Amino acid sequence: MKYLLLLSCFCFQLVHAQKINFSSAVFQTGDNPQWRIEKLDDKSWKPIDLHDYWEKQGYDNYNGFAWYRIHFMLPSAAKNKAVIKDLLEVFFPGIDDVDITYLNGVEIGRTGRMPEDPKGYKSGGRIKERHYAIASNHAALHYDQDNVLAIRVFDGGGTGGVFGSQQFIRFWDPIDYISMDAYATSFDFKKNAVSKEISFQNSYSGTLKGVLTTTVQWKDSVVKKYNQPIQLPIGKSVVLFNDLPKLDAASVSFVFTESINQQSIAITQEIPYILTPTEKQTPQIHNAKAFGCKPNVPFLLAIAATGVQPMQFEVAGLPKGLTVDVQTGIITGAVANAGTYAIKVTANNRLGKSTQKIDLVIGKDNVIVTPPMGWNSWNCWGLAVSDARVKSSANAMIHSGLANHGWNYMNIDDGWEAEKRTFDGSILANEKFPNMKELGNYLHANGLKFGIYSSPGPTTCGGFLGSYQEEAKDANTYASWGVDYLKYDLCSYRKLYPNQLNLQQLQAPYFKMNDALKASGRNIVYSLCEYGMEDVWKWGHEVGGNVWRTTGDITDTWTSLKTIGFSQEIPASYNSNNYGFGDPDMLIVGYVGWGDNLHLTKLTPSEQYTHISLWSLLSAPLMLGCDLARMDPFTYNLLSNDEVLAIDQDVLGKGPKKIDFSTDVQVWTKDLADGSKAVGIFNLGNQLLEQNIQLKAIGLEGNYAIRDVWRQKNILSTSAVKASIPSHGVLLLNIKKK
Ligand code: GAL
Repeated sequence: MKYLLLLSCFCFQLVHAQKINFSSAVFQTGDNPQWRIEKLDDKSWKPIDLHDYWEKQGYDNYNGFAWYRIHFMLPSAAKNKAVIKDLLEVFFPGIDDVDITYLNGVEIGRTGRMPEDPKGYKSGGRIKERHYAIASNHAALHYDQDNVLAIRVFDGGGTGGVFGSQQFIRFWDPIDYISMDAYATSFDFKKNAVSKEISFQNSYSGTLKGVLTTTVQWKDSVVKKYNQPIQLPIGKSVVLFNDLPKLDAASVSFVFTESINQQSIAITQEIPYILTPTEKQTPQIHNAKAFGCKPNVPFLLAIAATGVQPMQFEVAGLPKGLTVDVQTGIITGAVANAGTYAIKVTANNRLGKSTQKIDLVIGKDNVIVTPPMGWNSWNCWGLAVSDARVKSSANAMIHSGLANHGWNYMNIDDGWEAEKRTFDGSILANEKFPNMKELGNYLHANGLKFGIYSSPGPTTCGGFLGSYQEEAKDANTYASWGVDYLKYDLCSYRKLYPNQLNLQQLQAPYFKMNDALKASGRNIVYSLCEYGMEDVWKWGHEVGGNVWRTTGDITDTWTSLKTIGFSQEIPASYNSNNYGFGDPDMLIVGYVGWGDNLHLTKLTPSEQYTHISLWSLLSAPLMLGCDLARMDPFTYNLLSNDEVLAIDQDVLGKGPKKIDFSTDVQVWTKDLADGSKAVGIFNLGNQLLEQNIQLKAIGLEGNYAIRDVWRQKNILSTSAVKASIPSHGVLLLNIKKK
């Protein structure tokens, strides 16, 4: 009885959102600053429906400026009834394309950039919601009287105007003051459990209370659930979950229900799971079985070996001109004559030794013979890259142990260039890079390679200086700094032509820089970046490219990964060790962010296994786009599976074939140099896939030795696999005919 009474009292306190829907507006095409004014006489304006574009309401094909005026009354009773009375929100589900919104003549928000903006027009995003917050005591706002919202809209083309299910103004509810963030820090691994911090931000002026419900689900059943009352003081608070179970691809949801209105916010994440077995302590060598370089240029190959330190190296069969540092395993010098030199590398430590044969493929076109593996600054630091940030990731590349698995390029993307060239036209680095030559030396001394970025246009995509008409000079400057890799990004070159570039116009600047790089006296990997235009995979090699971007930019979402990755069958079919490699863009694992503020990738762990597996099957360049200094155990484990990386680094360098197995399942198969095949079975659906898959159902007749590559375990059957593949995850196999 007592319990019921309490419950009913509690329910009585529930207060529903104080909200006024906008139903109608008046409209005028054109543009006039006076139209924002509250007292304007708009009786002659035409009524317009806020659900649909203006094209559907008699303004066919109209592009350009237009104004909407919405009259509304806000009763003071709404404020009295609101639980928290401080803030109001004006909401639009969509505006096509740019808007500036005024309340009684005063601007309260804008999205996108109007044409008169000094930085130029930029769409605000047609279907991007607008949430404009205003203080409930804002001087422009009148209670119990007429108010006017005037929305100045600019439509850059196509449909236009204010549209969507419902526009409104409402008082904020307590839950609106709270945000929850699960991407600020990674999961941590303990012996038998996984822990995770969730941070809350309370932007209200007092403590808010509620209940946090944590539910762990595995294979569709709940394995753990608990409720925890919590108090959120003003500002940031962090809640730590210490004992999440260690299960492959379990999910955890965190739901915070605020106690006044019982409204909730929720986050669901997949709990990371480790597949790569622990590294062996005996020496293991992980370089690709072939290594390319031009003759008569500086040569640098670092032996990548794991195992207990200290380690010592020996190399038999080194061609004339090369020497190895026995302590570091770094081979340097220059080879005068073209040819293939088989060297035998041995790594020794106190527990044993191991030996591997590597073919040094020296020839004028053999800049690389397997896809480059390394790091690029763009997906983490964006234009905020600096010498310190490059060095910090370089140090982490070495000290984390990743370099011992073959990761070695350290590439600076856009944002390093000074504003002006020197008096003789040479390019300079800006103040964030005090000494490029010293940076190059630093990387090389650690066995790492040095990459840089430019554009054939006058400016780069980030607005920095490009190499237009200074190609030879720039290539020589890069060479003097010790550069080993150039990403050459089309960007503003497109603006030099009024129409879309034809094939010849597109190739011309790439030929030009290729000549300059070839004459520079260094072995510089040439990475074309023109987003796949004109099927670059058909001619990337011809203009001198070693790798070529086949797509637009990737971001850390499943949609982006899936759209880009699973559409690479044709571009990758051109790949080979003596042609070059299609580049479906850089990796989006670890802490990414494209600027100063990084977050943990939004891809689930299963999606990340898919990402690395698919890129390896594609023979794609593997360029990490994360801050290596903040690498969590899951990411390290993901990037240090030598059997997976060996698929990427296979010396044939082929692209895979795709089979659509079912609506949600794709199978990608790649031929490897030793006669075996790598097979990725990808579950693109939203449910766990549990199925016994016969190899003959994916076109593989006969008996095979089957190995689960991520787990590095042989499978007993010779003709089938018992697949248990999480949503968006993969089972990666190596199969060899018996
Ligand atoms: C883009 C390119 C990105 C990055 C950026 C730098 O065009 O696709 O990968 O290099 O420019 O501004």
